[in-house]
Amino acid sequence: MALRPLLLPFLMSMAFVSAACCFANSISTSFPSVFAFGASMIDSGQNSVAMPLRSGAEFYPYGLDYFGKPVGRWSNGRTFFDLITEDIGYGLLDPYLKSINGNFTYGVNFASSGSTATNTSASGDKSGGLFCLLVQVDQFKEFQTSTLSIQQGHQAKLKMAEHFSESIYFFEAGSNDYSIYGFTTDDYDTSASVNTTIAYMKIAFEALYTVGARIFIVMNVVPLGCAPGILADNRGNGTYDAYGCRADFNDLADLHNNRLAELLEDLRADYPEAQWILFDAHSIYMDAVRNPSNYGVKYPLQACCGAGGPYNCRTEVSCADNPKYVNGTYLQWTTCDDPSLYIVWDTIHPVESFGYYLAQGVLTGSHLTPSFDILEAVQSIKTAVSSSDKAYQGEQ
Ligand SMILES: *[C@@H]1O[C@H](CO)[C@@H](O)[C@H](O)[C@H]1NC(C)=O
Ligand SMILES: *[C@@H]1O[C@H](CO)[C@@H](O)[C@H](O)[C@H]1NC(C)=O
Ligand SMILES: *[C@@H]1O[C@H](CO)[C@@H](O)[C@H](O)[C@H]1NC(C)=O
Ligand SMILES: *[C@@H]1O[C@H](CO)[C@@H](O)[C@H](O)[C@H]1NC(C)=O
Ligand SMILES: *[C@@H]1O[C@H](CO)[C@@H](O)[C@H](O)[C@H]1NC(C)=O
Repeated sequence: MALRPLLLPFLMSMAFVSAACCFANSISTSFPSVFAFGASMIDSGQNSVAMPLRSGAEFYPYGLDYFGKPVGRWSNGRTFFDLITEDIGYGLLDPYLKSINGNFTYGVNFASSGSTATNTSASGDKSGGLFCLLVQVDQFKEFQTSTLSIQQGHQAKLKMAEHFSESIYFFEAGSNDYSIYGFTTDDYDTSASVNTTIAYMKIAFEALYTVGARIFIVMNVVPLGCAPGILADNRGNGTYDAYGCRADFNDLADLHNNRLAELLEDLRADYPEAQWILFDAHSIYMDAVRNPSNYGVKYPLQACCGAGGPYNCRTEVSCADNPKYVNGTYLQWTTCDDPSLYIVWDTIHPVESFGYYLAQGVLTGSHLTPSFDILEAVQSIKTAVSSSDKAYQGEQ
């Protein structure tokens, strides 16, 4: 008897803990989820939980301006994708592999730094490149299968399956296929390389379509030739355009983007039940290079964090790397005073303030083709779901 008052709160707290555990880990069918795939521009810590202490994004000064500490994101703060999910009321999406306190209520981020769209094997080296797009798709399928399997009863399974079709699938893929492998050989074939990348993207999209995905938002590749990481590199033929960007890398990005637009056109014809939306991030970035003052930018071709040189970027010592002597010169990274005067934080990843402009391209729909209102999509499905909830409750 005397135990009762002690035991009861204990049992209640157990019940609370287990409810908190399972709710925190499961997605909710009350609103569409967002599932994200891609690489370092939107990685929310996938690589850092999969292979701890191997990526620069886990070290000072990454994340400092917003999180006050590194959180596995390649920015001084949030990524543009974080800004999108925050704006629609979803907060920050956790990486798929986050094993402790992962919160998947609003969706899952599968993006993995350094990854390609091309089917490459995991290397696990310092630069990342852990989970290429098709592996991310497999991870999604695992997630979906186990989510469906834990639903109690036919109705619940059906509702969850519908949920996967009402959800939004966002892609930031393809840029590493070129920034890492572009012009690495003398006979590098841009057309063949683009065709390979696009072919794997198609395989990934079709695989997701097959398991129910119906809303695809696909980002194109930013003008790689304007990125400090490419400008500081010596690959390519060394020709620059009028804005000081590398012409060959920009042509490569253009070729990819044209083929991507064609791919989405083909997919619209082949799978008219789905929405195939292009997010033209390239135009936003390019416009900022050409008209920096419209974006409050002063140094469009330089990185905020880097070890000097004309682009404040050196291939030998990256942001967060240990300093070292290179041919008698001591190379050590520094950070700029005001990141908002830059597009890029380190090599190619946007500073948080520029991420705002990229996010606006999606949130306002200004850079989506065909037009798509993400806020409305989230809202209208929310409303539809809650009225069908009511109908369902009415039946009972
Ligand atoms: C999950 O994240 C959302 C958005 O940040 C938040 O509103 C919600 O309370 C979180 N859920 C749990 C169980 O922590
Ligand atoms: C991707 O690579 C893996 C491992 O090499 C292989 O098993 C798989 O069949 C490949 N998938 C495609 C679509 O090429
Ligand atoms: C790439 O695909 C395009 C369009 O389908 C085709 O015209 C071109 O010949 C292909 N390039 C290579 C190298 O196969
Ligand atoms: C370098 O590549 C660019 C873009 O593909 C091309 O326009 C230019 O003619 C090339 N320059 C040289 C010297 O080969
Ligand atoms: C260092 O100097 C040597 C000889 O001048 C040169 O070949 C090499 O490319 C230089 N290395 C770097 C990293 O600049």
